[in-house]
Amino acid sequence: MNKKNVDTEPIRLNRYLAMLGVGSRRACDDLIASGRVRVDKRRVDTIGVKIVPGVNTVHIDRIPLENPPRPVVLLLNKPLGVVSTVSDPQGRPTVLDLCKRFARNKRLFPVGRLDINTTGAILLTNDGKLCYRLTHPRYEIPRVYIVRVRGLVDERKLKRLDKMTAPPGRHAGRRPGAQLVRGLERESILKITLHEGRHRQVRRMCQVVGLRVVQLRRVQFGPITIRKLPLGAVRPLEKNELEKLKRLAS
Ligand code: URA
Repeated sequence: MNKKNVDTEPIRLNRYLAMLGVGSRRACDDLIASGRVRVDKRRVDTIGVKIVPGVNTVHIDRIPLENPPRPVVLLLNKPLGVVSTVSDPQGRPTVLDLCKRFARNKRLFPVGRLDINTTGAILLTNDGKLCYRLTHPRYEIPRVYIVRVRGLVDERKLKRLDKMTAPPGRHAGRRPGAQLVRGLERESILKITLHEGRHRQVRRMCQVVGLRVVQLRRVQFGPITIRKLPLGAVRPLEKNELEKLKRLAS
């Protein structure tokens, strides 16, 4: 299937809301059941409803998820101990708490997830359609991670990791997805590039080849790099960054 018809595939409403960071699928089911969600301005309260992103419009409490009044995309350098959801039942700090300055009157949600122990680049937006596209594996948006692991990474492990980073059917003639930045007896540093955002993917890959992750940091999402943004700081994307990002997701 090509990229053009990605938005014509129906998906379950709870999954769509969860992808946009509204909450877990369970929480989104509860939200739907409470009658606060509308599809094409009509209230839905049945679990299992399907929608077509980009065709159907979804509102929560009459605030549109797509085509927001003023679209905004922020870059946050997520610190340790912060969860990448809109709210957390356990009361832990969320990425949204760190973006309050920019969040007034806007329904911001994170673009994908970083686990609680991972730091670095995470985007937040109120543009549901852009968020959906940036997180959909078919767009193959590259994510670059710097991983510190215990011990020396030998050639065999590096090759196995590299194989795991290849998008399906794309082994030949591509740039390496796993590179050794520094290899020492005590500790090594790897640069890993992935094209989708599966749950704890880097940690699971390292575990498979017997490497213990000491530190995991995402330094780039698509064309957006964390550069000198301090840990915990947030900034809106610059115009040229936004243009590049939208081009990648179009
Ligand atoms: N891989 C992980 O293991 N964790 C993340 O947060 C992102 C990618």
